[in-house]
Amino acid sequence: MNSAFLSTFFALLVSCSIAFAGDTTKAVAVLHPTTGSNVAGTVTFTMASDQIKVVADITGLTPGKHGFHIHEFGDCSAPDAKSAGGHFNPTNHQHGAPDAADRHAGDLGNIEADASGKAHLELTDKAMKLSGSDSIVGHAVIVHEKADDLKTQPTGDAGGRVACGVIGIAKP
Ligand code: CU
Ligand code: ZN
Repeated sequence: MNSAFLSTFFALLVSCSIAFAGDTTKAVAVLHPTTGSNVAGTVTFTMASDQIKVVADITGLTPGKHGFHIHEFGDCSAPDAKSAGGHFNPTNHQHGAPDAADRHAGDLGNIEADASGKAHLELTDKAMKLSGSDSIVGHAVIVHEKADDLKTQPTGDAGGRVACGVIGIAKP
């Protein structure tokens, strides 16, 4: 083995490990209730090829649909979670349904609670990213009091905020 081959080999090895170290492959948000709410839960975001798989398990809801979004700021400090700002919208789109071409990156539609107030959601999404400048990491997941109508600008008319959680990097 000549030394030119070896140095190329090691240079490749180093660049590969740097690329992998910079890419987040899993993120998690633990949702806490806002004042007067009992809504809590966990949302995970996992890279699956070019998409992100979202799995949410939430309790303490009123039965039916509730708006479910990523909001701009990873700040759940206000009692009503208004500190999380509006919908996460790094590409300057209109509010819409998760499967619409024109939607905020943070528009995940609705979660639907059963009669016991529990909701389980699994979806895959192409608009969200876990790495780079438009990454969802550091922003917040919000669950709303009412259903997102998927058309009213810029909020979907989903009413107050019943739970908030900051999205952090998870162990892959
Ligand atoms: Cu929202
Ligand atoms: Zn939106």
